[in-house]
Amino acid sequence: MHGQHDGPTREELPGAISAQAEEFSRRLTAAGQTRVAAAAQATVDGLHALIAELRPSGEEFRLAIDFLTEVGHYADARRQEWVLFADVLGVSSLIEDLNNPRPAGATPNTLAGPFYRSDVPDMAPGANISRDHKGDPLAVEGRVLALDGSPVAGALVEVWQANAEGLYENQEPDRQPEFNLRGRFRTDPQGRFHFLTVKPKGYALPSDGPVGQLMSALGLGLERPAHIHFRVSGDGFETLTTHIFDRSDPAINRDAIFGVKPELMAEFRALPPAGGKRKYALDLNLVLCPARQGENETSGRR
Ligand SMILES: [Fe+2]
Repeated sequence: MHGQHDGPTREELPGAISAQAEEFSRRLTAAGQTRVAAAAQATVDGLHALIAELRPSGEEFRLAIDFLTEVGHYADARRQEWVLFADVLGVSSLIEDLNNPRPAGATPNTLAGPFYRSDVPDMAPGANISRDHKGDPLAVEGRVLALDGSPVAGALVEVWQANAEGLYENQEPDRQPEFNLRGRFRTDPQGRFHFLTVKPKGYALPSDGPVGQLMSALGLGLERPAHIHFRVSGDGFETLTTHIFDRSDPAINRDAIFGVKPELMAEFRALPPAGGKRKYALDLNLVLCPARQGENETSGRR
């Protein structure tokens, strides 16, 4: 796109601009430049350059149209196949990074994903967010800090995670208790919070639709390494939405939606077993950055 963005100009785009793309540009210019027009121009230029490079046959073009049609058929209020498509191409993650840059030292922001709920009740410090106690116990202790290392007192820390089988409470409401593995805590004057839970398992994105079929044809997986989601809000700070990943998960280097960053990998430490169960502990710091001037930004809404 043009103007305040730093992307390539049309003249710098690889490949020749087709006659049709040039004519499209002339028509748009006559109609007046808007942000939508700039997006349409960049899309047409990119598509024409792609077609010039790949030279698809009529049959291949029809298959591409069939794929996009099928993605549309799979998208409804409960299942957003288009979002899944954007996620596995890394597009959702890139848009998140561009819109929510974090200074060095601040915890990176990531997508919230589809399983967040805002209606979880407040819980006392140290509460167990596993309401069915199924899985290996995990004790989480964290601190919320500002960029200069000072504690953020009274911050709201929301957490949500999959269970030991890799499923969220709202994916199987008949099998898991309401609000299972979800919590809402406040930091103490030292910025600390702690809670008990069970060790989450990684999971795979839906493979039964056209995006799953495409990924399979490409030989790419749909796995997400085990993680716990956090959303932290404090007065005067940008709301942070992030994940903390289990660095020992075999899929840690191939997260299907590109959420893993070095700062977000942590050790889920094994503790001496107790009561015949393995036990784990996780310690983490979540570092907030100041709210942007004139905004109390909530990022990563999705
Ligand atoms: Fe998740």
